[in-house]
Amino acid sequence: MCRFVRDGYLVIPAAVPMRLVAALNDDIDRVWTRPPEGLLIETFEPDDKMKYIAPELRYRPSRTKLLDLYTVSEIARRVTAAPAPMRFLATIFGDTPKAFQQLAFWRSAQQAMHKDTAYVKVDTNAMQLAATWLALEDVVPGTGEPEFYVGSHRAPDFLFGRVSKWAENFTADHERFLASLHEDAATFGHKRSSFHARAGDVLIWHADLAHGDTSITRPNATRRSLMTHFTSAADEPFYRRTTQFAEKRAENCIFVSHYADVK
Ligand SMILES: [Fe+2]
Repeated sequence: MCRFVRDGYLVIPAAVPMRLVAALNDDIDRVWTRPPEGLLIETFEPDDKMKYIAPELRYRPSRTKLLDLYTVSEIARRVTAAPAPMRFLATIFGDTPKAFQQLAFWRSAQQAMHKDTAYVKVDTNAMQLAATWLALEDVVPGTGEPEFYVGSHRAPDFLFGRVSKWAENFTADHERFLASLHEDAATFGHKRSSFHARAGDVLIWHADLAHGDTSITRPNATRRSLMTHFTSAADEPFYRRTTQFAEKRAENCIFVSHYADVK
């Protein structure tokens, strides 16, 4: 816990047993080859415009993400609710964790350094947010592995439009926000570090940890991984104001989705 408070992240080695990692990789192959009703991907293929569509295998090798896999995959729910990460999240939230936005990656999305609070909206309190990243294979350097500025969650808030931690409606501030993360790192001495995980390791990060993906130097290698955003049971993602798909309660985790009932 002390390390999370100081550094803004925590690594739980072998948080998910290998047999479950293998089962999830099989299930991911299943949904790509025989897409279940209602499952969506986010893709920029084939015209560089973002869209949400049913999985199409030809798009898998690109930056495409499976969205909220836990809506259709019991194995994804078991993996997401692995005991050690859930215990940690329950401790920091003081409440049962609620999974609400999950991305399954085939390759790195090549995300620039950012803070999730700018984009991932929790209705009642922007800071009631944390994320997990599970390696579904051993990470090979040069595949866009996660990187972060250690301790960057303790930098002063960047307020979009001088009022909000959420970026939307303040597009004019966006470049300034991204630049501020590197400026803060120089000002406060945040060390840039990356995570060379083994399959089954879980990285948990704070709502305001600056993080992204390293540059890809091995363009043909995969970087299979599962990222999930969490809030607490008492809080709701902002999208629940306008969508009310059925949630699912597991013993140690609640699942809600923007796109479908959790079956
Ligand atoms: Fe993020």
